[in-house]
Amino acid sequence: KKRLAVFCSGTGSNFKALFHAIIERELPAEIVMCLSNRSQCGAIDFAKEYGIETLHLSESQFGSHDDFARAMLSELRDRQIDMILLAGYLRKIPDAVIAAYPEKIVNIHPSLLPQFGGHGMYGMRVHEAVIASGETRSGATVHFVNEEYDKGRIIMQNHVPVLPGDTPKTLAERVLRCEHRLYPAALEKLLDKQP
Ligand code: GAR
Repeated sequence: KKRLAVFCSGTGSNFKALFHAIIERELPAEIVMCLSNRSQCGAIDFAKEYGIETLHLSESQFGSHDDFARAMLSELRDRQIDMILLAGYLRKIPDAVIAAYPEKIVNIHPSLLPQFGGHGMYGMRVHEAVIASGETRSGATVHFVNEEYDKGRIIMQNHVPVLPGDTPKTLAERVLRCEHRLYPAALEKLLDKQP
């Protein structure tokens, strides 16, 4: 079984979808840790409820970015983590961690990358930008994380329509439902390919 760490910052609905899919589809993986940059959030509550170890790790706890990166790396190594899944983790992963886990860190982004990605494009801002642009299609992307924000190789995408009268909130809800199907499917595909 692959040992997974899930990184979250918020509600954690993607984390929940992944957790349930692993059990229901009997995927060869186990979520051994939920790391959050926040001491309290929906994801942390869910992890505690299901007996998954939680870890609050935030750059503000450290004197420097390098110390933060070193701490993150040693927490991952201590638990022999094979793969990291970002599920609504709204922070950048330190380059040293990305270098140590090449093509082992995966993210879900609420748009059809490469459109509406990059710095400052996260959460509701993405949906606001999609609506402002007049696009008739949006969706979600699961991709590998590399040093370039939202630019890593795409693993899987799925699209949803942008409907007349949509607000960022209604579009976000439609995209999120799409994410809950997409992320488990992408994980299943990745696990199939792992040695
Ligand atoms: C999701 O829509 C996810 O794609 C997005 O945050 C939301 C988290 O929801 N992530 C990003 O914008 C990353 N750049 P969740 O906490 O309910 O899974």
